[in-house]
Amino acid sequence: MLTEVIESTRAVNRTFAEDIRKGLTADKKYLPSKYLYNKRGDEIFQEIMAMPEYYLTRAEHEIFTTHQSALLEKFSEGSEKFQLIEFGAGDGMKTKVLLQHFIDQQADFSYIPIDISGNILEKLTSDLQQQMPSLAVQPICDDYFKAIGKLDTSQHEHRVVLFLGANIGNFNPDESRTFLGEIASHLNPGDRLMIGFDLRKDPRKILNAYFDHAGVTASFKFNLLQRINEELGADFNPANFLYSPIYEPMKGTIKSYLVSTVAQTVHLQALDLAVGLDAWEAIYMERSQKFTLKEIASLAEQTGFKLVENFFDSHQYFTDSLWEVTG
Ligand code: AVJ
Repeated sequence: MLTEVIESTRAVNRTFAEDIRKGLTADKKYLPSKYLYNKRGDEIFQEIMAMPEYYLTRAEHEIFTTHQSALLEKFSEGSEKFQLIEFGAGDGMKTKVLLQHFIDQQADFSYIPIDISGNILEKLTSDLQQQMPSLAVQPICDDYFKAIGKLDTSQHEHRVVLFLGANIGNFNPDESRTFLGEIASHLNPGDRLMIGFDLRKDPRKILNAYFDHAGVTASFKFNLLQRINEELGADFNPANFLYSPIYEPMKGTIKSYLVSTVAQTVHLQALDLAVGLDAWEAIYMERSQKFTLKEIASLAEQTGFKLVENFFDSHQYFTDSLWEVTG
């Protein structure tokens, strides 16, 4: 199991170099946010989830705790046995609440966590082997899109796909529709998908979640520069950049940037590349989309699903939206 995780981690590394080249040589520079999650990035993201400003994780945790019985009922509806497939499983902190409840209820299911970080996936897998030895776990380490193709569709088992933690917010609208459409096309009618969406709310609350006082989110972004230094022999100096997030309430989009405070040239040895940055030139790092309930319902319809039920936390900050593949 672990050798497989390591093998696919190597394939992920090859794409890393080429994606960084593409982003830094683009007219409007960007760095793909999926690369924030190396070992150090995983650690910083866990700090983010524990910050007072980052309400998302607590809200989703509350949803799982409050609605665990209803969720098991919905997941196992129509068949006794099911495959639980999770995109972006991470440390599985929230999912463990569900997994433990399902095991306690003697539900018949296997768990397939998918993550781009081999590091966090190994940690999750060994944690689960210890804490829930009876659970069948088959981890897949890959990019979401590539992982869809790796799903074993030979078994005629009912499938429930989880895409939690507002991870969908990282996609732009086109990518969201493509990704969800692809998932639908790999599932059978009646299979289900539950997605965690962060909802529109007080813009100040949203911005604060990405602009925390302790600077943890900033260090999360700077860590990608550090990662590029380590893995691609680059000489980024984080002190020459400012972290700058903005929230656009009309569109519900957080966009975050690293802005170069000086004119500078960065060298990437492994890519044989020199990148010039003007003073105050921005590198686009990440988007985090916030949704309305209307947008969620129409996204389901556009991608081959029907909305079954939205589960909310007590503040209605967040929803886990349960969808079903239509025929
Ligand atoms: C893991 C994509 C849900 O966008 O809220 C947190 C990542 N970035 N703080 C998010 C993140 C900065 C997070 N997701």
